[in-house]
Amino acid sequence: FENGLGRTPQMGWNSWNHFGCGINENLIKQTADALVNTGLAKLGYEYVNIDDCWAESDRDHQGSFVANRQTFPSGIKALADYVHAKGLKLGIYSDAGTRTCSQKMPGSLDHEEQDVKTFSSWGIDYLKYDNCNDAGRSVMERYTKMSNAMKTYGKGIFFSLCEWGRQNPATWAGGMGNSWRTTDDIADNWGSMTSRADQNDRWASYAGPGGWNDPDMLEVGNGGMSEAEYRSHFSIWALAKAPLLIGCDVRAMSQQTMGILSNSEVIAVNQDSQGAQGKKVQSSNGLEVWAGPLSNNRKAVVLWNRQGYQATITAQWSSIGLASSTAVTARDLWAHSSFSAQGQLSASVPPHDCKMYVLTPN
Ligand code: GLA
Ligand code: GLA
Repeated sequence: FENGLGRTPQMGWNSWNHFGCGINENLIKQTADALVNTGLAKLGYEYVNIDDCWAESDRDHQGSFVANRQTFPSGIKALADYVHAKGLKLGIYSDAGTRTCSQKMPGSLDHEEQDVKTFSSWGIDYLKYDNCNDAGRSVMERYTKMSNAMKTYGKGIFFSLCEWGRQNPATWAGGMGNSWRTTDDIADNWGSMTSRADQNDRWASYAGPGGWNDPDMLEVGNGGMSEAEYRSHFSIWALAKAPLLIGCDVRAMSQQTMGILSNSEVIAVNQDSQGAQGKKVQSSNGLEVWAGPLSNNRKAVVLWNRQGYQATITAQWSSIGLASSTAVTARDLWAHSSFSAQGQLSASVPPHDCKMYVLTPN
């Protein structure tokens, strides 16, 4: 989908995982403020994305979307101006059906061009496009219509498809948008997160600059997982070139949460110019090695302990695409320290935690 966007995976924040339908314009403004004040914006988190439930239940007389009069009384254009003045971008949500997934507002089915023109006139920079209430019409028909409308009227708008189940979107969505969901909705627990990582892994070969697999948004900071589990979540999403869309309340983050989300070395793996999705390359009884290539012949490696006990995990050079004779400098991205290695790399990893490295051949 050559709109020039998504050369690296999108980064930002989305309202859904923490707030659901409980959103309003002050929350969005305060979130934009917090992204700037915490320094997250400078690290690359640029999109401030409003999810479901932002509009009135019905369209106006011209058939246009109307922002919810109680919760977004100033309108979306004013909000876009506010967010842009902070150096950030504003995203919005609609659906390739008659109603969105919450059923609280209309979807864009048969209003595709009109809605993209509306979003464009408001200064919207990102559209997440869901797949509920499809009126029995095919995924292909409905997403092709919106993709075409975006090409014509949505210049400069990142297009995120939120469709996963029916048609293996990785195999076709690259021609239609900048990212596509590969999984059902994530929940804030270990089982949900790990299974989404695995489901998403199957489609690794389809990802690259301009179009990314999306295993759903981050739960880091929402309270349902331990610090180790959130570190694993963030490391694997970064390695898999997943969108890094923060899903917690950034106005009230703990230092632990901030420490994970602000790790610039892990972010740099996600945003590497080569854009190759890292994959699971070794797996033995819940002790896993995930790895992938980076620019300048480097490799990114995650040793992931999915067991409930401390364990030693060893990555073999053969499974990460290095000749056994290759000596590297290994950078530990969580300890922020470097050491030398050759042939293999071993570490003792606490339960549900991970180690993450960048290997640079000497
Ligand atoms: C679907 C999506 C979620 C969220 C909700 C909103 O479930 O997958 O990410 O957008 O709809 O209703
Ligand atoms: C799931 C997904 C939604 C949407 C619907 C379609 O709920 O999470 O995003 O694709 O299926 O039925």
